[in-house]
Amino acid sequence: MEKKGRILTGHRATGPRHIGHLVGTLNTWVSLQDSYECFFLVADLHVLTTDYANPEKIRRNTIEILADWLAVGIDPARSTLVLQSAIPEHALLSLLLSMLAPVGRLERIPTYKEQIQQLHLSPSLGLLTYPVLQTADILLYKADTVPVGEDQLPHLELAHELARRFNQLYTPIFPEPQALLSSIPRLPGIDNRTMHTSYNNAIFIKDTPEETTQKVMQMYTDPTRIHPTDPGHVENNPLFSYLEAFDPDQNEVSIFKERYQAGKVGDIEVKRTLARVLNQVLEPVRQRRAEVIAHPGDMLEMLRFGTDRARLVAQETILQVMRAMGLTAGLDLAEGASGPEKAAKGIFC
Ligand code: TRP
Repeated sequence: MEKKGRILTGHRATGPRHIGHLVGTLNTWVSLQDSYECFFLVADLHVLTTDYANPEKIRRNTIEILADWLAVGIDPARSTLVLQSAIPEHALLSLLLSMLAPVGRLERIPTYKEQIQQLHLSPSLGLLTYPVLQTADILLYKADTVPVGEDQLPHLELAHELARRFNQLYTPIFPEPQALLSSIPRLPGIDNRTMHTSYNNAIFIKDTPEETTQKVMQMYTDPTRIHPTDPGHVENNPLFSYLEAFDPDQNEVSIFKERYQAGKVGDIEVKRTLARVLNQVLEPVRQRRAEVIAHPGDMLEMLRFGTDRARLVAQETILQVMRAMGLTAGLDLAEGASGPEKAAKGIFC
């Protein structure tokens, strides 16, 4: 089938994926695998921008992420899995693009400002250049489409600007990448704050049915409602955001909403339904997860296979970039071969 374009997207290897990742990004990625050529990146270098003191955690989380991706339907036979740190061209392109990125522009990026507030540390140079590295991830594969969550839009804007600037200054080799957002709004955590691994408010894909039910039963609902007969609010009520995102029977959801607003159904009944719905949707995913995590060696082999493939593309791009920027002294660094193999035998091997 003729593909619509090329996707590069990824997650930082920060821990097992939660149901917010599932509706925010993963389901979209899975559905795009047939219509786009997809590269899915495990961004382990990006983890170092904040969490550089725990190497063992990065290794473990890489496996956890892979297991979740495969379980939800990321298919290594159709898509390319990429390990960022195994392809040095990511770091090199980031360095080259950093020359075009004004420090003041990077300092104004909202995710950077939030991170320094939260960290209570003086930020590293690596944290400041986080979105430059992300731009390198995208441009290295000349991706035109980047499916991400809303929080990533400021980074995509930078990627767009840097691609443009490069194309204007040197040779137009990069598509200007476009963000693609999920149609479902961001899912709140069970306490109605942003769902976040470190806030202890996430339902994980790998949670057991009992853990899931227990978390649903603790969920924040309408704080103004004291008795089940009080009319309730469905807006800003995570019970209903979750039902909208997961219940295959949206008619059931509409009826629940009406009854809730009329004070004709208690929180407990809605929560029981939600727990059932979530466990039903997650059951096949959990089964696949258990199968894949039992063979971590096989998962790493899939990652190696994809990474080897991706590196050929990366090497070709980096040579073009270096030449365009006046580097390599015009030496034919890839002499003696042709096509992708030519790049593969290039300067880094
Ligand atoms: N910054 C992204 C996140 O936190 C992860 C990421 C790294 C990424 N490189 C990328 C996303 C390239 C899209 C494209 O979710």
